[in-house]
Amino acid sequence: MAAIRNTPGVLGKVLLLPGDGIGSEVMREVRRVMDWFARRHGLEFELDEGRVGGTSYDHHGTPLTDEVMAKALEADAVLFGAVGGPKYDVLPFEAKPERGLLRLRKEMELFANLRPAKVFDALVDSSSLKPELVRGLDLMILRELTGGVYFGEPRGIETLPDGSRRGVNTQVYTTAEIVRVARVGFELARKRNAKLCSVEKANVMESGVLWREEVQRLHDAEYGDVELTHMYADNCAMQLVRAPKQFDVIVSDNLFGDILSDCAAMLTGSLGMLPSASLGAPDANGKRKAMYEPVHGSAPDIAGTGLANPIAMLQSFSMMLRYSFDQDEAADLLDDAIGRVLAGGLRTADIMQPGKAKVSTSVMGESIIRELDKAA
Ligand code: IPM
Ligand code: MG
Repeated sequence: MAAIRNTPGVLGKVLLLPGDGIGSEVMREVRRVMDWFARRHGLEFELDEGRVGGTSYDHHGTPLTDEVMAKALEADAVLFGAVGGPKYDVLPFEAKPERGLLRLRKEMELFANLRPAKVFDALVDSSSLKPELVRGLDLMILRELTGGVYFGEPRGIETLPDGSRRGVNTQVYTTAEIVRVARVGFELARKRNAKLCSVEKANVMESGVLWREEVQRLHDAEYGDVELTHMYADNCAMQLVRAPKQFDVIVSDNLFGDILSDCAAMLTGSLGMLPSASLGAPDANGKRKAMYEPVHGSAPDIAGTGLANPIAMLQSFSMMLRYSFDQDEAADLLDDAIGRVLAGGLRTADIMQPGKAKVSTSVMGESIIRELDKAA
């Protein structure tokens, strides 16, 4: 642990948090790709590594130590694998692996979670939807990540006088929380196809009414050039599987964004194909705190079997190159190499199709590096 490399001229500090289950297996492939970029392009990072989730609980009795939290706050970017596993289901709520992830998001103030769902041509047939519905699909889900029902107070489980119990969570959003994420949504839309769909349930929730009003107000004041639509979350879930290409950028709250992004992930063929970037507000120097993680979980059922798909993790690294270090060229190189490996017919188990070659996590990683070699 704590393998620190200090090289002059490094791009920045990156903290690796592989976590549980397949987290460490997919992170291993990122390490190899990072080594490749260091060797071939001189893209060096000052690397550190820490524990999070169940593995942190096993060693330290907490899903995230203050020490690792402090390192995350200091890093230019955090690369996160996955957390959780059935072994930890019995733990008290505060000790559960997921609490480590949520603490990182909250204390780093990573309010903007970008989840791009892009369908590789080679994987059109892996989607559960008809090829014509997903071919060329490229949409971005922007999920609010530090507010809403995930963190709202009051929360808890209380025992009532009659001995029965009551569980409480609170959905709450302020103007400032809505406006800052909506602004990211409009800015993303401007760089894409200038369409933003804002999603809530204003028909049943006051927080949804406020959400809709504030997004509309920001649009009218500053982003008239972006086409803004509003949609109820249930309808959005339906539209995502009916006609997903109608969307460009979708902005939604923490809970609806969680659900809709799993749905969008499957459009691409597998949860193993969806990366994410979680960003904070820019500081005085324009730097944002950032964490990059695949949308998939720790998949304890396949951990250690070589079945895991490393692509979402590798694409998360590519998002890190783009959003934290302005290395668009390197990111393109990696994304293209992934596309070519898929076009060449290699598949991990989750995206396996008849007539294709099924490969393990590490063979997928090696093949992507071989493609990088060809391009360099
Ligand atoms: C996600 C995950 C997390 C969430 C879990 C692991 C806490 O599902 O990042 O989408 O609900 O946010
Ligand atoms: Mg989720």
